[in-house]
Amino acid sequence: MLYRKFNNLDKDVSVLGLGTMRFPVINNDQNKIDEQKSIEIIRYAIDHGTNYIDTAYPYHGGNSELVVGKALLDGYREKVTLATKNPVWLVRKYDDFEKYLDEQLQKLQTEYFDVYILHALNKKMWDKIKNLGALKFLDEAKAKGKIKLAGFSFHDEFEVYEEIMDSYNWDMCMIQLNYIDQDEQAGLKGLRYAEEKEVPIVVMEPLKGGLLANPPEDILLKLQKSREISPVEWSFKWLSNYPIIKVILSGMSTMEQLVENLEISNGLEADNMTEEDYKVIDEVIDMYNSRDIIDCTNCQYCMPCPVGVNIPFNFKLFNDASIYGSLKNSAYQYNLLIKPEEQASNCIECHQCEPKCPQKINISQELKRVEKLLRTDEEFESNHWVY
Ligand SMILES: NC(=O)c1ccc[n+]([C@@H]2O[C@H](COP(=O)([O-])OP(=O)(O)OC[C@H]3O[C@@H](n4cnc5c(N)ncnc54)[C@H](OP(=O)(O)O)[C@@H]3O)[C@@H](O)[C@H]2O)c1
Repeated sequence: MLYRKFNNLDKDVSVLGLGTMRFPVINNDQNKIDEQKSIEIIRYAIDHGTNYIDTAYPYHGGNSELVVGKALLDGYREKVTLATKNPVWLVRKYDDFEKYLDEQLQKLQTEYFDVYILHALNKKMWDKIKNLGALKFLDEAKAKGKIKLAGFSFHDEFEVYEEIMDSYNWDMCMIQLNYIDQDEQAGLKGLRYAEEKEVPIVVMEPLKGGLLANPPEDILLKLQKSREISPVEWSFKWLSNYPIIKVILSGMSTMEQLVENLEISNGLEADNMTEEDYKVIDEVIDMYNSRDIIDCTNCQYCMPCPVGVNIPFNFKLFNDASIYGSLKNSAYQYNLLIKPEEQASNCIECHQCEPKCPQKINISQELKRVEKLLRTDEEFESNHWVY
């Protein structure tokens, strides 16, 4: 495993970090974590060299922090750099910052956090919490020994990122990055800016929520013709080639994914991309761009919908149809397998979900496109699966 120095922490951090927003769940209910399997995943990751764990107040309806706390008993806490995030959208007054921090320390059964992050900042949220004294709170929390490093996670345009970066002596920053999102949000420009300011970067959504792990056949062939490595390895290689990226946070939902990602990370080295590799990635980006994809990463921040529309699943069906050419399969699932209230057509355009979307998707409009593409009167037979 490649380890990298992370600010002034004693322990170097593993380049593969464990994101805890994608735990296995029971009955498809995102709030019901399969605790036993998840604890097994966390401890296996730690036993095999991963030492950076990232959670947050809202993940899995507040249960991610509780499960991580349980997994880190029996001596595991001391082995890891533990990061969690302040739910800034719930903060109404200065004291709320510390109220949530204290609640999180309790939930995670720890005395301190190695890394404490202001969660999912954008311009509006930044202006609000800056005025409420967020930066003073971070200084005080450090002085009290409740947190070691202070950072922010980010979802907005580069100019906002630059403003936030310049407002405080940040110890780290978390941005969304993968090879097809180089120009989205903070993007590569933001990475270079962090490098100039020597702010360590943790990357979220390295596989674009899983999309890059399962490319369609033409893209898979393009990648494998050049190097016989998996699509996940391509993604991790591309990211780890930037030394300012200290941790690639991967949300792994099965033990098999963890084992694969550990194996890949064990083989990662700094300076591992050739000019030819970059050319292949550029071609693959063009191939993805030629498809009509809704930019959803299944982060679930938009959920629950007040009338029950399963927003991420509708977008997944649309993307599957567009990326894999499997229109019949998506239409079958849309028309017959998901409940009527979960379907895109049930959207009442209340727009409550839209400000919550880190990708700034115009959700109600995109749901109309889902309905238009997938609604059909066709009679399906049970063997109508395309892949
Ligand atoms: N601060 C924020 O605003 C914010 C936002 C988003 C994420 N995060 C953090 O960043 C972490 C990482 O983001 P992410 O979960 O979106 O990461 P990601 O790596 O882009 O996506 C995770 C998904 O990729 C798929 N995957 C992972 N390894 C795989 C493998 N070996 N083979 C096939 N599929 C594989 C799985 O999808 P399937 O489950 O479909 O198989 C998994 O759920 C999160 O868990 C969370 O801790 C923070």
